[in-house]
Amino acid sequence: MKILVIGGGGREHAIVKKLKQSKTQTEIFVAPSNAGINEEATSVNIGATDIDGVVNYSRENNIDLVVVTPDDPLVLGMVDALENAGIRAYGPNKAAAIIEGSKIFAKDLMKKYNIPTAGYASFNNHDEAADYIKCHTKFPIVIKADGLALGKGVIIANSKGDALVALKDMMLKNAFGESGQQVVIEDFLTGVEVSVLAFTDGKTIKPMVSSMDHKRAFDGDKGLNTGGMGVVAPNPCYTEEVERKAMERIFWPTLHAMNNEGRKFKGTLYFGLMICDGEPYVIEYNCRFGDPETQVCLPLLEGDLVDIFLSVIEERLEEVPVHNKNASSACVIVASGGYPQNYEKGKEITGLNEVDGIIHAGTALVDGKIVTNGGRVLGVTAVAESLQGAINEAYNKITKINFEDMHYRTDIGKKALEIKEAN
Ligand code: AMP
Ligand code: GLY
Repeated sequence: MKILVIGGGGREHAIVKKLKQSKTQTEIFVAPSNAGINEEATSVNIGATDIDGVVNYSRENNIDLVVVTPDDPLVLGMVDALENAGIRAYGPNKAAAIIEGSKIFAKDLMKKYNIPTAGYASFNNHDEAADYIKCHTKFPIVIKADGLALGKGVIIANSKGDALVALKDMMLKNAFGESGQQVVIEDFLTGVEVSVLAFTDGKTIKPMVSSMDHKRAFDGDKGLNTGGMGVVAPNPCYTEEVERKAMERIFWPTLHAMNNEGRKFKGTLYFGLMICDGEPYVIEYNCRFGDPETQVCLPLLEGDLVDIFLSVIEERLEEVPVHNKNASSACVIVASGGYPQNYEKGKEITGLNEVDGIIHAGTALVDGKIVTNGGRVLGVTAVAESLQGAINEAYNKITKINFEDMHYRTDIGKKALEIKEAN
């Protein structure tokens, strides 16, 4: 089976590794790829949002299945274009991908179908939004750009003054471009975050293992929000009781809500949850695999990813087993110094051959050397019987790797271990 994966980050590298374990014999192509994926699949020089390019390439090369992973091509309708051309594609269509593409859509959906989430108001006018903030008495408050913003369109403002500045940046100064022309202003929830990625074909829903992301740049959850600096699975806050509540109040209702709106969701649905006093609330939906969550979820997945993808497309996921191994997994992101702000690229990375379980994110092959080519450079992963074991192993591997100005958090999984001990 010829499979084309769209995207070129750590998540896609993890997906390629899992696809290669399928009992189906595969030939894998990846657009636009990176230096690690290059070693395991054929790189295709097409951008991840180049819909015509992907359709034409798939047609010309008799691709049997296209796996569309990043948010932007999904929201732009790449799956619709492929299906219209008669090419099988995994991922939600444009009508369903709006669950991530518009935060206002997602909030209104949850309100309409009584799915637990933070209280909110939405605005397309700066002055009305500013009036709302001026009347608000409880801070922090959360301001979110409606559209996609590379995970950076969320501002948590600790005071009225900060909130008004953030709002102005978003709505009048175009800090997030078009995405910020409409905003959601949301109540701040206190609790522990859990990510749950689930396969769904619109008829059934099968979650992968829960995980805990670490979004801030520095130890102790300090510094700016990033795309994610590390992740562990399973998440100790996601107890059986919480899982039952999430299934009953969030996962199934979301699936039914999307069907009812004529937006059947088929693909990987990502639930970003906040657990407040044992009760799960939705912080965000993503219409795709999370990054870096995928890097810990797929190694723990007992199931054949090719079979799962095909069963979702053919709406027979019910028949296909999706189980999670009884083990733990950790992924520590090694980033370029300065990320998520300014950073340099092109630094040579050494030590990669000395360890396994390295997922490439922002890397490139230049003159025979593997060099940094992005903010998040590598995901160093490990699987072990215990969470502590997985964390130790990941950090051990990092000691072998080096490049100028490399930065990583030293406390990935620390909070999860503390919670585990307290239970
Ligand atoms: P999002 O892109 O919506 O996931 O938001 C990014 C991050 O901001 C989340 O992972 C949370 O850490 C935080 N966040 C978003 N919404 C809220 C909220 N209502 N209350 C508290 N934290 C939030
Ligand atoms: N790790 C968060 C995301 O993929 O959006």
